[in-house]
This record gives sequence, structure tokens and C-alpha cells, in this order.
Amino acid sequence: MKAIEIRDVHKSFGPVTAVDGLDLDVPEGICLGLLGPNGAGKSTTMRMLTGQAIADSGSIRVLGYDLPEDSKQARAQMGVVPQLDNLDIDVTVEQNLIVFARLYRVDDVPAAVDRALGLARLTDRRDHAVDKLSGGMRRRLLLARGLVHEPKLLLLDEPTVGLDPQIRTELWTLIDALRSRGTTILMSTHYIEEAERLADEVAVMADGKIIARARPDHLIAEHAGEVTAEVYAAPEALARIRSSAEAAGLSVRPAGPAVAVVGIERSTGWEIPDGAVRRASSLEDVFVLLTGEEAE
Ligand SMILES: Nc1ncnc2c1ncn2[C@@H]1O[C@H](COP(=O)(O)OP(=O)(O)OP(=O)(O)O)[C@@H](O)[C@H]1O
Ligand SMILES: [Mg+2]
Repeated sequence: MKAIEIRDVHKSFGPVTAVDGLDLDVPEGICLGLLGPNGAGKSTTMRMLTGQAIADSGSIRVLGYDLPEDSKQARAQMGVVPQLDNLDIDVTVEQNLIVFARLYRVDDVPAAVDRALGLARLTDRRDHAVDKLSGGMRRRLLLARGLVHEPKLLLLDEPTVGLDPQIRTELWTLIDALRSRGTTILMSTHYIEEAERLADEVAVMADGKIIARARPDHLIAEHAGEVTAEVYAAPEALARIRSSAEAAGLSVRPAGPAVAVVGIERSTGWEIPDGAVRRASSLEDVFVLLTGEEAE
């Protein structure tokens, strides 16, 4: 069965089209990374899956339930970690979890709370006030809260946005553990590395639709080939290098102060400039080529 089936969904806010003919399937048991630049429509998609936003047209099925009619049943088996922290800061870590466990009508609330605390490695913080937690601990608590009822499907909207690298790595370990246990995960992100590390498959989203989707290594092979050459030079020289590579049929993308000529093995007609740095093509190359946005 598919955990998520989205067909030709549109959603506008006044004059702004947020989601524009979206088709997206998520099979059970995988982690799908929804990778897209700011404003691509990732959060709007997540919010439609939870029933917080209603599509203007198209169809959405989650865990076999049609939305929005049966969103309550679907929600009962879904865990949601929103992009913005909405924890209750007036109560303790444990109380935040108890409230959600009751809301989801979990049979054994204390056992569920203990399990979620353990998963998020917050057991020794259970009596702490939420506003005394570090940023990373708050994120882990948000994750624990989304897991308290052992959902079949987990929606993670930018799970590590704004966190420092060490805390980000810590959360990746946690998410990876959930993935290994077979929880189906849909995770939006605009961090390439996050998608690369955690996702079995990546769907690249831009302007409200999916523009490419495959395993990360397949996306790289298809769109960026094997080897990329990064060339650093003065702007005029870079412009010349860019046109010569494009004339030879190669894709070129900006890479900070350099240009990256992508998939150079695909053309024999381009002479690699002296001093160019050869490296393996990456998911970042794919992302920048497809979306036109420089990656984070
Ligand atoms: N409630 C709303 N009212 C008006 N416009 C909205 C609303 N929600 C989203 N939008 C607009 O819809 C578009 C898609 O927004 P969305 O939040 O889904 O993007 P995103 O991919 O999650 O971006 P980010 O990476 O910044 O989180 C944007 O142009 C946004 O301004
Ligand atoms: Mg968002």
C-alpha cells in the first residue's frame, strides 16, 4: 500500500499559487526527502496532508483515507513535527508528551511517554521546564511528541532548520534510527546534505510541483553525470569558460565564486582549463541545475 498518494493537487492563497499540479506517492517503509528552495510549497503540502489546509482541487489519500473527509482517522496514525516550534512552554517536558498521548487516546500513557522520552534521549530532562531546554533539546522534544502514539507515518517539516551543525547531526542519528525501524517518513528540507544522508528517495520540488524524483545516486547519474570540474577565475575568464562548456553541450552552474561544469565526461569537445578542480558530481549540482537556486 502507498502511505501517501497525491494527485494533481492545487492550492493558492489569493494571488499566490503555493502548490501547482502536485503528484506525489510515498510507498510504505521509505524515507522520502522533499527537497526544494524557499517558497517551493513544501510546508503547504505538509499542511494539506495533516488537514490543516484544504486543497483547492485534486485528490489526497493518506494511509488509505481520503482527505479532507477522513483526515481525523489519518491523523490518528500520523506523527507530525512542524517547521515552527509550537511546544507548550508553561509545562514540563513530560507534561507536553502526556497531553499528546491523551489526545491520541494512547492506551498506556506512562509507558508511551517513557518510550518517547527514551527515543529522543530526554529521559533525564523529563521534569525540566520547556523554556529551559536548549534549541536541540526542544527539537528532540518536538520529535518525541510526534512519536508518542507510535505513528505509522511521520511528517517532518524542516526538522533541523536553524540548528547548529552538531545538533543537526544528533537529530539525523535519531531520524535514521526511526527509518531503520520501518516508520514511513516524509521529510521536507532545503539542506542537500540532510536529504542525501536520510532519504531513500528524493523528490525535488520547485514552484509547487515535483520536477525530479529518484534515489539520490540515480538523480546524480541522470542529471549531473559522474565528474564535475570547478573552475576559479576572474569574472571575464569565467564567462568565457561558461560559454565554451555550454557550446560543447555541458551544463554549467554557479558555485559561489567559481563555476561548476557538470558531467564533463559527457563531452569530448571541451578542453578542461588548467587549475580546474575535478570532483564527483553531487546532489547539490542536481539541485542547483534543476531549481536555479544556489544550495545551502
Ligand atoms: N497561509 C498562507 N497565506 C498566504 N500565502 C501563503 C500561506 N502559506 C504559504 N503561502 C505562500 O505559498 C508559497 C509556498 O509556501 P510554503 O510555506 O509552502 O513553502 P516552503 O517550500 O515550505 O518554503 P520554506 O522552505 O521557506 O519553508 C509561498 O509563496 C508562501 O508565501
Ligand atoms: Mg516550509
